[in-house]
Amino acid sequence: MNRLSFDDKNILITGAAGFIGANLVMRILKENEHCHIIGLDSLNDYYDVKIKEYRIKEIEKAAEGSGSDWTFVKGNIADAGLVKQLFAKYEFSIVVNLAAQAGVRYSITNPDVYMESNIIGFYNLLEACRHSYDEGKSGVEHLVYASSSSVYGSNSNIPYRVEDPVEHPVSLYAATKKSNELLAHAYSKLYSIPSTGLRFFTVYGPAGRPDMAYFGFTDKLRKGEKIKIFNYGKCERDFTYVDDVTLGVYKVMQGAPERKNGEDGLPIPPYSLYNIGNSAPVGLKDFINILGEELKEAGVLPKDFDMEAHEELVPMQAGDVAVTYADTSALERDFGYKPATPLREGLRRFAEWYGKFYL
Ligand SMILES: NC(=O)c1ccc[n+]([C@@H]2O[C@H](COP(=O)([O-])OP(=O)(O)OC[C@H]3O[C@@H](n4cnc5c(N)ncnc54)[C@H](O)[C@@H]3O)[C@@H](O)[C@H]2O)c1
Repeated sequence: MNRLSFDDKNILITGAAGFIGANLVMRILKENEHCHIIGLDSLNDYYDVKIKEYRIKEIEKAAEGSGSDWTFVKGNIADAGLVKQLFAKYEFSIVVNLAAQAGVRYSITNPDVYMESNIIGFYNLLEACRHSYDEGKSGVEHLVYASSSSVYGSNSNIPYRVEDPVEHPVSLYAATKKSNELLAHAYSKLYSIPSTGLRFFTVYGPAGRPDMAYFGFTDKLRKGEKIKIFNYGKCERDFTYVDDVTLGVYKVMQGAPERKNGEDGLPIPPYSLYNIGNSAPVGLKDFINILGEELKEAGVLPKDFDMEAHEELVPMQAGDVAVTYADTSALERDFGYKPATPLREGLRRFAEWYGKFYL
């Protein structure tokens, strides 16, 4: 692995106003005194833009206390001209692509935006990385991009391993993420772009995504509505606290796959792919119980709120898998990375943030 320093480097983070992106920018600003971060985000209204604006304000505060600097560009990665212009201006050393259209259900009603952001947008970045080496320039030293646990579809081998076959996506979103991995592999092979894909498992935390279950449950409970708990709560999932995830991404950014030749003398693609998750599945019912307790503690729900009266236990949805979690041994082996935040602590921080933001 090729160890990279951030000193005096220009780093592009796409999706910088997003949940993971904003937290990653803040981590880099906190831990580095001499780098330049350029954040690109279209600030689309897939969910409440106020949360994205709030995150940008938090980044600005973090930038004030850092020797590194931060520049925000509002724009779309599907705009090839803009991407080219930014690469020409900043000559990025490290590129992290977190901009994407997420969500499984939304892809049924809005397929266009998945093709635009996740396919065309990613392709524009790959092309820009490719041409960053033109005229003998050192160019991009590492491209890190977000994939997703959704590529595992309805695989039943648990825990999910990167080596498992994932040729059967069950949503357009998953198909675009798997396509990203394939495109990155081809570009790594053809142009020796060191690239690392990260398959994220459910990430949660303060100022998270309102389209995700724990956030949606909170909105409903606060309104006194019932929440639906599938498979009677007997599902188990991998939940990863956002700071743990950004620590993992930050470590990965600093370790690029090496450019090497194989025995045949031809370049081996400098390409890596990892799961990034907790590798510790939690029962959905336990998750909801802890969430309810922490929402009461933070004053989001009244102390005497009857959780059980607001829970509707329903059968499993077609295509759902009862237990899913990540095998993260490779990330632990290569980067010494292991998530450490206990679920209760992570949910407490979410509940406290939610109380401050909405009440
Ligand atoms: N949060 C999770 O649990 C999770 C799980 C699996 C994969 N992921 C992936 O991780 C990445 C980050 O996820 P997140 O949770 O921070 O999502 P997010 O929606 O909060 O962040 C994505 C950001 O990208 C921006 N964006 C979208 N399309 C864009 C485009 N075409 N050009 C420029 N900006 C654009 C959005 O405005 C948003 O701010 C995504 O690729 C997502 O698919 C996240």
